[in-house]
Amino acid sequence: MIMISENVFSVGVKDWNRRLFDALIPLPKGTSYNSYLVKGSDKNALIDTVNPGFEKELIKNISEITDLRKLNYLIMNHAEPDHAGSIPVIMERSSAVLITTKKGAEMAKIYYKVPDNRIKVVKEGDTINLGDKTLRFIEAPWLHWPETMFSYLVEDKILFTCDFFGSHTAFGIYDEDVEDLISNSQRYFGEIMMPYRAMGKAAIEKLKNYKVNMIAPSHGPIYKNPEIILDQYKKWTAGETREKVIIVYTTMWNSTEKMVETIMKPLIAEGIEVARYNLANADIGDIAKDLVDSRAIILGAPTVVGSLHPLALHGLQLVNTLKPPIKYGVILNSYGWGKGAVVKIIEQLPKSIEPVGAVEINGPPTDDKEITDIGVKLAQKIKQG
Ligand code: FEO
Repeated sequence: MIMISENVFSVGVKDWNRRLFDALIPLPKGTSYNSYLVKGSDKNALIDTVNPGFEKELIKNISEITDLRKLNYLIMNHAEPDHAGSIPVIMERSSAVLITTKKGAEMAKIYYKVPDNRIKVVKEGDTINLGDKTLRFIEAPWLHWPETMFSYLVEDKILFTCDFFGSHTAFGIYDEDVEDLISNSQRYFGEIMMPYRAMGKAAIEKLKNYKVNMIAPSHGPIYKNPEIILDQYKKWTAGETREKVIIVYTTMWNSTEKMVETIMKPLIAEGIEVARYNLANADIGDIAKDLVDSRAIILGAPTVVGSLHPLALHGLQLVNTLKPPIKYGVILNSYGWGKGAVVKIIEQLPKSIEPVGAVEINGPPTDDKEITDIGVKLAQKIKQG
């Protein structure tokens, strides 16, 4: 338990051991489930809870500050179980009223069996008065579920954003404690928020009306310097890309890998940043991070049984799911006795990505010219913006 402002406490937990999220995303540094207790002169409110399995630790942290039975409000900024999974225990041990959006109320009934008479629905600008402290609610839907909202502590100017501005790391309490925080936040943005860039941009637009001294997300460190993460989120939600290409490939007998090495040379010579991932050993979170600001993608895959290698299919599906702001694409393929991978990739490549070139080679590559020329063309496209 830590006091982050006068009578505002961080009462959440750290999950040092968790290594996978959503059965997809590796968490090399664990994560945290931040929960906050605001103690007003008359009433108190708990903002978000913790992942199931950590209820006892949450209750212990709350009990160091107040009697849980006297909790007045439980605020659900987001209904996903890593933040809302302990709602049933908190509701059972207190007479708190659950505060959430209209959509959140529907979800609280379905997921957590919260009865109607213990839910108060709030909308944009609504407030609850805790005595000397006031919480104002800001609707921020689809970050990354439909019911999401922010809570703003008016007197302390603290913004509680749940997943938004979060990062999966158990390290540190505040932004200044975590050396690789922006890189970690970019990874998180790529995994969770990138498909909802437009909604993120709209939410940031709303925040212009608020003076924010501190951002307190429900994963990762608290921002004492909110502009650090706000500046990054403005770029990421706007889909700003750099002179950068991400290469995502699979290779069985190194032919596709040789093609990758050939195309990298003109790109590097032209000063293009290259992020290269072999899907056989890549961390999906690293790929998600580099998809956030890459302007181009090179997909490499061997043909397997008339189609593309299943790992490459997974990589392509990841691009379709995460919806990065990539503008240009190149496809590299080596086949044994029959084609098939390039057609499949073109069919499934997002329409927002302009194909700049595709190379199909029977067996190992022997002539570099075609691939080099495509690399030069891609570098020119990337530099055009
Ligand atoms: Fe951290 Fe969408 O839950």
